[in-house]
Amino acid sequence: MTDIGPGTGRRGVGELSGGQNRRIKEPRTATEMPPSLGACRPTVPTSDPNTGLFIKTYGCQMNVYDSTRMADALAPHGFAPVAAADAAGVIILNTCHIREKAAEKVYSELGRLRALKARRAQAGQRLTIGVAGCVAQAEGEDMLARAPVVDFVVGPQAYHRLPHLVARARRGARLVETAFPTEDKFDHLPLPQAKATVSRGPTAFLTVQEGCDKFCTFCVVPYTRGAETSRPMAQLMAEAHRLVDAGVREITLLGQNVNAWHGAGPSGAPSTLGRLLFELAKIDGLDRLRYTTSHPRDMHAELVAAHRDLDTLMPYLHLPVQAGSDRILKAMNRQHTVHDYLTLVETLRQARPDIALSGDFIVGFPGENEADFEATLALVRRVGYAQAYSFKYSPRPGTPAATAAAHVPEEVKTERLARLQALLADQARAFNGAMVGRTVPVLLDRAGKRPGQLAGRSPYLQAVHLQAPAHRRGEIVPVVIDAAHANSLSGHMAPAPAGAGQIDGDAA
Ligand code: 5AD
Ligand code: SF4
Repeated sequence: MTDIGPGTGRRGVGELSGGQNRRIKEPRTATEMPPSLGACRPTVPTSDPNTGLFIKTYGCQMNVYDSTRMADALAPHGFAPVAAADAAGVIILNTCHIREKAAEKVYSELGRLRALKARRAQAGQRLTIGVAGCVAQAEGEDMLARAPVVDFVVGPQAYHRLPHLVARARRGARLVETAFPTEDKFDHLPLPQAKATVSRGPTAFLTVQEGCDKFCTFCVVPYTRGAETSRPMAQLMAEAHRLVDAGVREITLLGQNVNAWHGAGPSGAPSTLGRLLFELAKIDGLDRLRYTTSHPRDMHAELVAAHRDLDTLMPYLHLPVQAGSDRILKAMNRQHTVHDYLTLVETLRQARPDIALSGDFIVGFPGENEADFEATLALVRRVGYAQAYSFKYSPRPGTPAATAAAHVPEEVKTERLARLQALLADQARAFNGAMVGRTVPVLLDRAGKRPGQLAGRSPYLQAVHLQAPAHRRGEIVPVVIDAAHANSLSGHMAPAPAGAGQIDGDAA
């Protein structure tokens, strides 16, 4: 979970998730507001002076990016981030629906905010509360009915209309905006101001693609985020230049299915993510590129070539496979086999021998038997992951797998997850342990946990902690790794400089 406040970090993982047995709603039309008003610039009523903004972010990095864009959209209207909900005049919960009980958790949080809103009302002050993100998209008008504390509900495709929604809500209206608008929000969202970018540190996210057409049978994303859309290359290059001009040194391209990006290239014809990376790599001062999350089906040749040819493209790839049994992959509608995946891993390792792989796994998908699960363990042993995320299957209302017959008992899921996680933890420990004694370039992107410390990321996305003066934040420094811990490394600054993406000079 990540909060947008002044000078807060930007990454965060957490989740809120969904009401059981509640069907995903069709996108709804906006209530109370004609779409044509979306881009107008309302002024904030002077009788309502608290323009402190607090955005609480749940879920994936795309939500983290969206929260920054929401803050950027409201900044020209006088709204400034505050560090705590208590100090805010506007609170937005940016929610995630990917796994269980998302909606229930949002409603619990709203219950807590009800008390805060009541205290404010007693003091004669207004607190405006909005819900954004995938739970907002799925719940729509039901949320206004069920949670009187909520002033507005806004889906991910309508964030450009936020200033208008907030202004109307602050004048007492209750609104829902979950339609998939005809206009593109990115044409209307203001670009971040240099000051805001600087305050967010030397790394930035950049959403290049949204939505998904893959329809994995367990996944809610195609319903909450809609069909795949790709932003044009020129728009992305402009945003990247702006970030780099404000001091950003590492950009992570984001998309639910990022390597399916096919935005218009210079000629207007659809381009590829590989080509986009080659273009971004030309930007002076942009030292590191990453992208996430990829589908194995969309790892095209130009993208593999980017891993081979671009030093700025970090040697780390999150490439979910979900399961290691062809029978289960088919039932998941993953559109690839175990053989396809292993062949791809081989191709990638030929292109960039030191590439670190990460993945997502689901255990206990309906119909998964012990042999299927063992096949997943076998795949993990074959690939050797640097790190990974693994989950028990949770039925998402409205998705095909939710109504499948052969659900796996909870205790079996729990037991399988523990076995898988033990194996993945062993692999992560081995990967991190192999770094001890080596020198790695680390982009110092934030304050460390202890006084006098800074923290950053290795090329392989490992968190690295070290003693370093605060003014070195934003630099890429060579760090000798002294120790490996469960989820991080610690080290000390080495005397000589190292390249941005190379390790001991042995990178591809
Ligand atoms: N149950 C469990 N895990 C899920 N994921 C997506 N949907 C579900 C679900 N219904 C996991 C997948 C995906 C990651 C973001 O979340 O592994 O890659
Ligand atoms: Fe969901 Fe990813 Fe499958 Fe798309 S590719 S449906 S986002 S799991």
